[in-house]
Amino acid sequence: MFLLPLLLCIGCSEQQPHYTIGVSQCSADIWREKQNSELRMGAYLRNDVDLLFAAAYDSDERQVQQIDSLLRIGIDLLIVAPNQVQTISPAIDRAYDSGIPVIVFERKTNSEKYTAFISADNYEMGKVMGEYVAHRLNFQGRVLEVMGLNGSSPAIDRHRGFTDALCQYPGIEIVDTLQGDWTEQSAYLATQLWLEQQPAAVDFVFGQNDRMAMGARRAYIEKGERASGKNPKLPYFCGIDGLPGEGGGIQLVRDSILDATYIYPTHGDRLLDLAVSILEDKPYEKEVRLMSALVTQENARVILMQAEETLRQTDYLDRLHERTDHYLRQLDTQRIISGMFFGVIALLIITLVLLYRYHLRKIAMQKERVVNTLWNMKPEDMPNRPETATQPVESEQEPTDEADENEPAAISFFITRFKEVVESRLENSDVSVEDLAADMNLSRVQLYRKVKSITGSSPVELLRSARLKRAYQLLITTDMSVSEVAYAVGFTAPSYFTKCFKEEYGMVPGEARG
Ligand code: FRU
Repeated sequence: MFLLPLLLCIGCSEQQPHYTIGVSQCSADIWREKQNSELRMGAYLRNDVDLLFAAAYDSDERQVQQIDSLLRIGIDLLIVAPNQVQTISPAIDRAYDSGIPVIVFERKTNSEKYTAFISADNYEMGKVMGEYVAHRLNFQGRVLEVMGLNGSSPAIDRHRGFTDALCQYPGIEIVDTLQGDWTEQSAYLATQLWLEQQPAAVDFVFGQNDRMAMGARRAYIEKGERASGKNPKLPYFCGIDGLPGEGGGIQLVRDSILDATYIYPTHGDRLLDLAVSILEDKPYEKEVRLMSALVTQENARVILMQAEETLRQTDYLDRLHERTDHYLRQLDTQRIISGMFFGVIALLIITLVLLYRYHLRKIAMQKERVVNTLWNMKPEDMPNRPETATQPVESEQEPTDEADENEPAAISFFITRFKEVVESRLENSDVSVEDLAADMNLSRVQLYRKVKSITGSSPVELLRSARLKRAYQLLITTDMSVSEVAYAVGFTAPSYFTKCFKEEYGMVPGEARG
């Protein structure tokens, strides 16, 4: 009973079923961080999902190890952005073959072993950016491309889209394609090296993401400053990702640092919805294409305003989330405290009940002892012996209220008197319970209740046992025949006397004589 309230408290906070989802990210950067926090928010709102995140920091080896250890831990579903197509696919296959659903997102695997794929179209993105660059240069100019990690599918697809778009314009020349690895530093170093080796004039630099566009730009600025001092003339730069917020791609476009970017949607919320639909056996699309948009000088301001509004809302939700967590923690503590409180109360009640029952038992035993002792005592040894058995008792001698009646002294008094009354009427076979009651100054019913409650036997039973006891004494102390004894103690039929005697003493009267 003590544990029951606690168990109830714990029980009611349980949610079923509960899913553990592993998220294997190829990299750790602001784009991934945004996506992870959207996933976290989605999981927080659902309350039946645990997320286990792993970030491989652009290392194939690390990502393979991380996927394998997520499988060992025991996840219900794997979400994975493979660092490179070839290298991670075997680990993804292993996950799929182990029987758990696998969602590949944003970067592709080269195998068919996945449950769903969700991404924006990287080929389309490269193509739109190529068209934009061609138009911006009025179909005449020189373009440099800085690619992302060469084995990753977005780098391959964006490159294909970009070159497919530009090859339609003979006035546009892609002077070179440099190799980066999605980081700012890789693009900076590759561009710096290229600028040192072939200082050919370039009108537009396409970094396959905003960070790399900014890395290439840094290399250009440094080179220009060395050559012509402050504010060197720079080519246009464009990238992909278009993150909102301070220093994000949209702001860079608004501030004319980048000329354009393309929003590469993170949509952690949709990723989580897809995962849960799969886990709950609900219908879902195997290939989900996320929509996106080009950000240019024309629309950057509006998009940024909207993005900032969304950020404010997200921030607001984050704070709400923290506050709710705080309240929930408080609630949990209160629940435990009240559980313990009720437990202690229950324990106290049980202890009191047990003590009370023990007390009652003790009183009953005391009563029994008193009654037995008194009933078996010789008349001359009895305490509070009334003057004569038949003499009515003075009313002030009688216990007056219920409580007094239960006092050992009152019981002793009553039994002593009742014994006197019984013994004085013993020989009289006509004596009835009414006669005994009248002698005790009680009604028949009152006498019955009182005798029964004190001794557990009825007045008639006590009268009979007193007769039998007297008979026993007569049998062993006199020469009276069994019939004489039977009549002497108030029995009208010797056969009935023998029967009762046998019941009381386990032997027939003759045997009592030895
Ligand atoms: C983030 C990122 C993005 C890029 C994408 C390509 O990790 O590098 O900047 O658009 O991955 O997969």
